Amino acid sequence: MKSRKEKFETLERKRKQALLGGGRERIEKIHKSGRLTARERIHQLFDEDSFQELGVFVTHRSTWPGLAEKKMVGDGVVCGHGLINGRLTYAFAQDFTVFGGSLSESNAGKIIRLMDTALNNGAPVVGLSDSGGARIQEGVASLAGYASIFLRNTMASGVIPQLSAIMGPSAGGAVYSPALTDFIFMVDGTSHMFITGPNVIKKVTHEDVSQEELGGAKTHNTKSGVAHFLAEDDDDCLDQIRRLLSYLPQNNLEDPPYLPPSDDPNRTDPRLNEVVPENANAPYDITDVIGMIVDDGEFLEIQALYAKNIVIGYARMNGHVVGIVANQPNHLAGVLDIESSIKGARFIRFCDAFNIPLITFEDVPGFLPGTDQEWAGIIKHGAKLIYAYCEATVPKLTVVTRKAYGGAYCVMSSKHIRSDYNVAWPTAELAVMGAEGAANILYRKEIKASDDPAEELKKQVDHYAEQFENPYIAASLGYLDDIITPESTRPMLINALESMLNKRQQLPPKKHGNIPL
Ligand code: HXC
Repeated sequence: MKSRKEKFETLERKRKQALLGGGRERIEKIHKSGRLTARERIHQLFDEDSFQELGVFVTHRSTWPGLAEKKMVGDGVVCGHGLINGRLTYAFAQDFTVFGGSLSESNAGKIIRLMDTALNNGAPVVGLSDSGGARIQEGVASLAGYASIFLRNTMASGVIPQLSAIMGPSAGGAVYSPALTDFIFMVDGTSHMFITGPNVIKKVTHEDVSQEELGGAKTHNTKSGVAHFLAEDDDDCLDQIRRLLSYLPQNNLEDPPYLPPSDDPNRTDPRLNEVVPENANAPYDITDVIGMIVDDGEFLEIQALYAKNIVIGYARMNGHVVGIVANQPNHLAGVLDIESSIKGARFIRFCDAFNIPLITFEDVPGFLPGTDQEWAGIIKHGAKLIYAYCEATVPKLTVVTRKAYGGAYCVMSSKHIRSDYNVAWPTAELAVMGAEGAANILYRKEIKASDDPAEELKKQVDHYAEQFENPYIAASLGYLDDIITPESTRPMLINALESMLNKRQQLPPKKHGNIPL
């Protein structure tokens, strides 16, 4: 029989084993690769001394020769809850020092329990991935773990925010748990995500591609749009997660966190009057506009490197969190295409699920023409953006800064799809199409019959522009609530937003809609 003292010593020894994961040598290897260990990441993610670990002594149950006798306390994943910015958050961190952070039946069980508890308690889940995927020796039992996590991800979607940080490898079907979550962070140079790696690709398609090029942080932040944030290193990644969480509610029944503002709600900014160039086709940077309007110029841009013709992100207006969607005239003239439609739609749906009001800044010449776009399905992908705006019941406010042409006028949070407050700057142009296109269609005969077709075209373009390229027709029809000076945009939006904070609007009862996927 062990004495009480010995029992206490056993506890201490086992706890030390748990803290060491796969041992000092492997920890050093992790550090040499530029990564932090799972425990270091958890420590840095949470407010000091607030983390409480769950499932500390779990080990695997495999009887596989070579594995059966190698049991590691904790089995390669650190799970628990604590405070981030003073608010309850759940997190798991895969420990690469233990069997390459691979997912076993037992450690999947820890993650599953964590997700169930987070859902029951209405708090976000952050997953820090660093794993070789399914624990190969456990076969289908490990796959069952993945499938059970996918189910939790789906059940929790729209109920609690789910954030994933890829901080090492993430290969095969393992990528689908992060993909089912709301936001993905990747660390430059040390994280990779792919369904099949370079070797398999070489065999099947004979393509030569490096891991980094195939599924590195830059690739997924610029090419695929899979990732939402690019971090310089682990420290930066964990800081970015904390920053994003500061804008999100704990769950779908809460409002996003209000912060007492230091910026004057009545602040006007005369610089805004100069933003839109005299030449209607000249670009300007919509992020400058956003910066001049929101509290303290603080804007957390999401997917800043992908589909740059649309800008999305979070800011505060007089302390209230808002989601911002803005066409970017600085990139492809702010045109809507497949990538920007999908990017905007997913963001709008997240905001709507989590009670975050939407402000739209509109300057869009239309949808991008071309066979590439048509054959890749701009019709169904553009429809996603329409669907997302139509379905959203959060307060919706729209500012037309310049162009609002054609279908894009309808899509970008117009009054007709239940936007609550729509205004335009005097530089706005709301019409079916631009003056040149319209004149060529409407006055084709006159232009052809003229002695000087170029002069006739110019005359008709000027006439059309004078008649239609302004905000006054839309305003006279009640499609705009007001035409405002750019400098007054902040106070006007704050006033309107604060009148809508108790907005309640229901969708017709249904199992779920059928968004064009
Ligand atoms: C068990 C694993 C493992 C795994 C790595 N290890 N992956 N053990 N199951 N999936 C172990 C290694 O054997 C090694 O143990 C230790 O972790 C560190 O691995 P290294 O290879 O030395 O590290 P590194 O060189 O950094 O390479 C990392 C790696 C590589 C790129 C992740 O380990 C790798 O390719 N692993 C296999 C990836 C994979 O194919 N997984 C299955 C994907 S399919 P020792 O004791 O030697 O140090 C999948 C299906 C999910 O996951 C389906 C869901 C629907």
